Amino acid sequence: MTSHTTSTIERARAVLAGGCDSPVRSGWGVGAPMFVQARADGAYAYDESGRRYVDYIMAYGPLLFGHTHPALVAHLDDLARHGFVWGTTHPEEIRLAERIRTYLPAMERMRFVSTGTEAVMSALRVARAFTRRSLILKFAGNYHGHSDLALLNAGASAHTHDAAASGIPDGVMRDVVVARYNDLASVDALLHGRESELAAIIVEPIVGNMGYVTPIAGFLEGLRERARRHGALLIFDEVITWLRFGPRGAQARVGITPDMTTIGKIMGGGAPIAAFGGRADVMAALAPDGSTFTGGTHGGNPFCVGMAHRVLDLIEAHPEYYDEMRALAERLAEGIRAIFREHDLPYAVVQHESIVDFKFRAGPPNRNYDDALAADKQKYSAYYAAMLERGILLPPSQNEVMFVSTAHTRDDIDATLRAIEGSLERAAHLRS
Ligand SMILES: Cc1ncc(COP(=O)(O)O)c(C=O)c1O
Repeated sequence: MTSHTTSTIERARAVLAGGCDSPVRSGWGVGAPMFVQARADGAYAYDESGRRYVDYIMAYGPLLFGHTHPALVAHLDDLARHGFVWGTTHPEEIRLAERIRTYLPAMERMRFVSTGTEAVMSALRVARAFTRRSLILKFAGNYHGHSDLALLNAGASAHTHDAAASGIPDGVMRDVVVARYNDLASVDALLHGRESELAAIIVEPIVGNMGYVTPIAGFLEGLRERARRHGALLIFDEVITWLRFGPRGAQARVGITPDMTTIGKIMGGGAPIAAFGGRADVMAALAPDGSTFTGGTHGGNPFCVGMAHRVLDLIEAHPEYYDEMRALAERLAEGIRAIFREHDLPYAVVQHESIVDFKFRAGPPNRNYDDALAADKQKYSAYYAAMLERGILLPPSQNEVMFVSTAHTRDDIDATLRAIEGSLERAAHLRS
């Protein structure tokens, strides 16, 4: 770490709570100094000394096209010319909703907000208003942002198992139960006797916040069936998965239609825009049609809406992008598997589209949060540091995954594989 960075971290800690705006960035998950980034382009992040790193954090998901795709960052004055925020409804916002609905028909009606946190918070409120019930069932290790109802035992880098210490009110805790992912028996046990209180089940249909976790056969179908049987709603949180797994999202892949959906991250091309939506009768609970409220100064602002159109334009103009990213991710995953075979390491490498992940834990890939917590944190910390030394920026937490973008190249992937080799060779304890 340069003295440059040390002094920046000191300055950060003197004015920002914990030195950062999101705890994962502090490096606490890997016992490392905070990575201070000075700039970015394409697939690369740069520190204050100007050193370049291949970036696999990709802002925790939004950067499907890397940091600076020209179609997203050029001619921004065209978007700004008419102002950033209007506080009125406008045709481009309507057109954006129409475009989204052609890809996600389950979002019959939607509303734009700025972040995934807001999208989930709003969807839960609507579900409770529509059902006139309070209980929410969520899953440990799924992350849905930092609102009260979503935070307990969240994945990602939220260490929030102690509700009181996390500032989650007792009253809220009475209305949230946290089940085990991929475990319908845990769902039934928690709901037993409370079925008629259930407003919604919220789930990441494919999870990116406790490492990469796929639903086992029958799990999501079981949730769909239980929500229906208990008169509750099923909410798919696709804040990570929408556009990452193509414009039809995870819901098309798993073949299940949720009652409500939340989206965000990639859709703004780096600008903050998200949405929640679902069945028309459910969304009619919102004012002015119904009696519950969500709103916001920045909801549907023309700048972010314009960015979202650019993202969809880019995806529609380049369907080959998905194949290219998948090929790169496969190359990375295959390369890591080969290295692990060579060193006789028992770690499962998973890859799905442009996501690549492995954990320092022997056995099958993560199936739930217990698996995620059982991974060896110290090994990951050593690996993170060794990779950083070699110019590779990994997420500073083992709950996250590696994101490949359209900006990554085969050379970047090969450099990454060489860095993994080098890191394993250097740190003998990583090979044990
Ligand atoms: C699945 C999921 N939902 C919701 C959120 C919250 O989104 P935001 O950080 O935009 O508030 C995240 C963020 O990581 C997420 O991964």
